[in-house]
Amino acid sequence: KEPFYTETFRPQFHYSPETNWLNDPNGMVYYNGEYHLFYQHHPDGTTWGPMHWGHAVSVDLIHWEHLPVALKPDEIGTIFSGSAVVDWNDTTGFFGGQSGLVAIFTHDGTKPDSGEKFQAQSLAYSTDNGRTWNRYEGNPVLLDENQADFRDPKVFWHEESNRWVMVLATGQTISFYTSPDLKSWVLASVFGENQGFHDGVWECPDLFQLPVNGNEALKKWVLLVSVGDNPDFLEGSRTQYFIGDFDGQTFKNDYSHDTTLWLDHGRDNYAGVSWSDLPESDSRRIYIGWMSNWKYANLTPSKSWRGAMTLPRELSLAMTEQGIRLRQLPVKESAALRTETIELKRNEFMAGNQIVYTPETNAYELEAEFDIKEPGVFGFALCSGSLEKTVVGYDANAQKLFIDRSQSGKSDFHRDFAVKHEAELKPKDGKVKLKVYVDWSSVEVFANDGELTMTDLIFPDSSSRGVEWFAEEGSVQLLSLNVHLLKNIWA
Ligand code: FRU
Repeated sequence: KEPFYTETFRPQFHYSPETNWLNDPNGMVYYNGEYHLFYQHHPDGTTWGPMHWGHAVSVDLIHWEHLPVALKPDEIGTIFSGSAVVDWNDTTGFFGGQSGLVAIFTHDGTKPDSGEKFQAQSLAYSTDNGRTWNRYEGNPVLLDENQADFRDPKVFWHEESNRWVMVLATGQTISFYTSPDLKSWVLASVFGENQGFHDGVWECPDLFQLPVNGNEALKKWVLLVSVGDNPDFLEGSRTQYFIGDFDGQTFKNDYSHDTTLWLDHGRDNYAGVSWSDLPESDSRRIYIGWMSNWKYANLTPSKSWRGAMTLPRELSLAMTEQGIRLRQLPVKESAALRTETIELKRNEFMAGNQIVYTPETNAYELEAEFDIKEPGVFGFALCSGSLEKTVVGYDANAQKLFIDRSQSGKSDFHRDFAVKHEAELKPKDGKVKLKVYVDWSSVEVFANDGELTMTDLIFPDSSSRGVEWFAEEGSVQLLSLNVHLLKNIWA
């Protein structure tokens, strides 16, 4: 066993499983001082297989402790994605008047008689802080014979109507159910038939309320919906979101159906959802996603483990010229990852490439601010070696941020991996700010204080560690550049 996770491509400060396969984050809940992170896990292989819930806990969202598998397949089926809540008032009766944790997950099964596949929602509960789980004997609690794709329940307590709400992915719609006790569920409404992006199956929804520009008097509901891979699209699986209102029964989208809002403009952030039951003193909405893409998730070139999560991110809403939009930044706790800061100051930088720094390991955070004097293309070549580089850049003429991973390292496992992709980003007062996290096999870019996010996997050679900056045409002034070296959270 490698104690310090030094295998090729192993993330140093992102959560990845000790061994074997990981996909979606599941059941994130805060309880008794611990952040729980469960995840889709195949403990017997490095590719997707019979699903279990793996489990980890953290007291600070940064350092994780691996715990034994929490939920294993049973006679009903394997354990697909879902959520967990604290049943504070023992509405289930599982806890003898105390509080406890309830997991609400999808059972994926096959009917013994017909051999037909089905998906149904089931419960498990824990009276020992998530260390052991009991199956509810009344499982499954929600089944619909007519729906094949019927999964990924996200449950929360809706204060105003004094009952539980379940948000469920049903084919290419989202269905809302309500319940007094998590055991009996009634359909309230269905959303999405004529809204949003429909080129793949809808999965892993989430629904929560956030203030706009921090104004508690103006709150909006955010509905996250992940959309599965479609071989006809280069992008693969990705997550869209809707902004609107929710009255406990029905979600009403604010925007017309022809606007698709993407949560992340990179290729590798999927199936993300948010934490439940943060303490009352913490009004944040904290999100984590799976850093991969169903297009090639089973093929990426790691060996003993496969799959990792994004950094935990704080979500917020901001009013923009286009309307209300989601913002994302790594949680403030991420500052604890920094071990050393190198401050590089240059006033003027014209065309050409220049290695500014070669860190010991590809685990760092870059913070940079550029002042655009004359539009051109500028940015960073990261993880650069003689033959490789991952370019994180800004095209000030097109006003687009891009990641070019066409020469980022290993890419022969899938023909659609070695690409450049881009997304619109306007400068702010002629300036662009980039915050970039590199962790051996991933790059997460947060532009203009979280206005735009791009998350990508990369597989560079371990010798490709240069940090270069470049400016082509035009003229740009690099106002500041900080490199924060980040620690190995497992050491
Ligand atoms: C999303 C997903 C979910 C499902 C799980 C199975 O990535 O397809 O819809 O519950 O993965 O592992």
